[in-house]
Amino acid sequence: MARIVITNGTVITATGAHELTVVVDGERIAALLAPDSSDHASAAASGSHVIDAVGKFVIPGGIDVHTHMEMPFGGTMSSDTFETGSRAAAWGGTTTILDFAVQKKGESLQAALDLWHQKAGGNCAIDYGFHMIMADVNEITLKEMDVLHGEGITSFKLFTAYPGVLYSTDGEIFRAMQKAGQIGSMIMMHCENGIVIDEIIKDHVGRGETAPYYHSISRPEAMEAEATHRCIQIAKVAGSPVYVVHLSAKEALEQVVIARDRGQNVFAETCPQYLYRSIDDLTRPGMDGFEGANFVCSTPLRHREHQAELWRGIRMNDLSVVSTDHCPFCFKEQKAMGIGDFSKIPNGMAGVEHRMDLLYQGVVDKHISLARWVEVAATTPARLFGLYPKKGVIAPGADADIVIYDPNARQTLGVEMHHMAVDYSAYEGEVIDGRCDLVMSRGRIVIENKQYVGTKGQGSYLKRSLSQYLV
Ligand code: URP
Ligand code: ZN
Ligand code: ZN
Repeated sequence: MARIVITNGTVITATGAHELTVVVDGERIAALLAPDSSDHASAAASGSHVIDAVGKFVIPGGIDVHTHMEMPFGGTMSSDTFETGSRAAAWGGTTTILDFAVQKKGESLQAALDLWHQKAGGNCAIDYGFHMIMADVNEITLKEMDVLHGEGITSFKLFTAYPGVLYSTDGEIFRAMQKAGQIGSMIMMHCENGIVIDEIIKDHVGRGETAPYYHSISRPEAMEAEATHRCIQIAKVAGSPVYVVHLSAKEALEQVVIARDRGQNVFAETCPQYLYRSIDDLTRPGMDGFEGANFVCSTPLRHREHQAELWRGIRMNDLSVVSTDHCPFCFKEQKAMGIGDFSKIPNGMAGVEHRMDLLYQGVVDKHISLARWVEVAATTPARLFGLYPKKGVIAPGADADIVIYDPNARQTLGVEMHHMAVDYSAYEGEVIDGRCDLVMSRGRIVIENKQYVGTKGQGSYLKRSLSQYLV
């Protein structure tokens, strides 16, 4: 592989902006050079492939720690494979995904991990790792948590939602958290009171209130806040960290803020759909009155007033990460399964391709700084999930996962332009500032001149360490 020298760009890291030349040797970043240094002149003149990034930002490749590629869910399978989903991620400047392997009830965690390796291996355009969803918490699976650490799985997701499917009791959550506290894993929690929610769903469906809108109504903010509070308290007693996934309600955020202010190891993420979409989208009249199904996800989209609070949370570091919860289902044949009963709409939205751009729009709109953009999209995800300093930073020795980002470009989002395997866009027609000019994964260019130039299978499995926030 040729040496690559990226000149004239502004390197953005979690600490700010720096005028530096980036030298890539093979798969790694070899050096950062000041433009007036003598090394700089020789690096640019040494027969290397020189990329002129004048007027552009040079940022670490994005890390999306919450994706669901080809996941069986809601009676169907999420529509992106690892091949299509990881390629779409690359288009949008994400160079690492962490996907959730799903244990089926009665099966071992190892069997779930083996299956996810089969799905992803040889198919990814970018590097990837896994978390493990535990459907059973028992003596056997608790022991397996140790084994999985050895295989690079250091985070485990549990649910207080979806009774009878992925739901765990408080006792089970306590046991898993106790174990995590002992061995240093991160417990990720889907926080919604699924028991109460299932009763509310019965009420709505019983009254004939079956439209997509009732999906959101049946999952009140109070039930997200209650479960968030409960999981935080259980984690405190169990001596474990907790990471709250896809937080959407300001009432849940308040619980995170209280715990963090007390000094507890509580972390949370939100997702672009909660920053840019709202419950209003569930009443869209298109697609024979069923377009709202395209905005069904859990936790659900909230009223617009929550958005400012979520941006505030990102700015103040109460929300540490922005991931996508990318879980695409096509309208035809998948979302349409819920016509006549919103509870049968597969839960999830697509987004892996647009996270970096939608967050950059947050910079343009002055919600966050450039440094915070990089921090929540790449650096903190790497640090929280055992990938740092290999990933998430532009520094000598790090993997050369680099995005050259053009802040002056404009693009219109929509189903015709996106690369995700889903037949609608939640952002159809939205015009946003900025786009990726060039994307590099471990020193190999994968996106250049608006073309995908990578190859299927060049992404490698990432064996992760423990969270850097806990050791
Ligand atoms: O609606 C969602 N979030 N679907 C994906 C599964 C999950 O709970 O993350
Ligand atoms: Zn979830
Ligand atoms: Zn998810």
